[in-house]
Amino acid sequence: MAATVNVNGRVSDQEHASISIFDHGFLFGEGIYETLRTYNGQPFLFERHMRRLRTSASMIALSIPLTDPQIDARFRETVTAAGLPTKDREAYIRILVTRGIGELTYDPAATPVPSIVVIVKPHVEPPADVFERGVKVALVPIVRNHPGTVNPLIKSNSLLNNALAMQEAIRRGGFEGIMRNYKGELAECTQSNLFIVKNGAALTPPVDAGLLPGITREYLFEVGAGAGISVREQVLHDADLFGADEAFLTSTTREVVPIVQVDNRTIGSGTPGPVTLALLEGFRRKAESLTSLKPTAS
Ligand code: PDD
Repeated sequence: MAATVNVNGRVSDQEHASISIFDHGFLFGEGIYETLRTYNGQPFLFERHMRRLRTSASMIALSIPLTDPQIDARFRETVTAAGLPTKDREAYIRILVTRGIGELTYDPAATPVPSIVVIVKPHVEPPADVFERGVKVALVPIVRNHPGTVNPLIKSNSLLNNALAMQEAIRRGGFEGIMRNYKGELAECTQSNLFIVKNGAALTPPVDAGLLPGITREYLFEVGAGAGISVREQVLHDADLFGADEAFLTSTTREVVPIVQVDNRTIGSGTPGPVTLALLEGFRRKAESLTSLKPTAS
């Protein structure tokens, strides 16, 4: 679906958006990003995404030359140029900050000016039966990055590891791929976080298992507190997943998606469970009320 792109402040349609091949984002994958979406036309949990963007930037020693209000203005300008949101279409927004353009060297002194790109497209909801019937995922052999390599805390543009894991999931007919960490514990999915439900509680691997601290994951602790559902961190292994009553994944673009099958094994009853559905409903209700009240939701 056609995108509208803002490259360093210049807005164009996707055909006319371009960036130098000497940008270190292209040459070395040196960059970070965030994916947001709107509800009621407002970027949802904007401040939290900006906080994570700045954490990612500081972990690769990259300074972002814009303040949050300046980034917000750039978003809004691009969203407006894209003709979004409409009555029945929310916006998908991806912001990328790369090291910038410079010589073929790893020395950051060669790239004094970061590149900032905003991509805006109509947000595409997963099909209704993803939520109503749940999905099959694959437990893939590709290991989530060791925190001593490209730390999973960094929302990095270097996504080759995740892309390879997702390729394997696609080969196996999975909607997503679950990855373990280097210790063999469950970590997260290639583009989303993982939860299981056991005895009424929703459990997710701790951040120090080596995973991206998802904004949706974090928000779900608050949704759970409001709905009287215990949502907490716990180290998880394969046996916990296969013995779970329910499982689900979370992300900005997918909200809360029930997992009913992992490879050839059924999870729980094989249909979306009551805890998953209560958290999905609670999440949507909270997102709706937050964005219909405030101009920018935190
Ligand atoms: N993906 N884990 C990984 C590896 C991710 O890439 C993502 C997000 C998440 C969920 O994070 P959040 O709830 O903040 O969206 C977890 C986004 C949607 C993307 O890659 O576009």
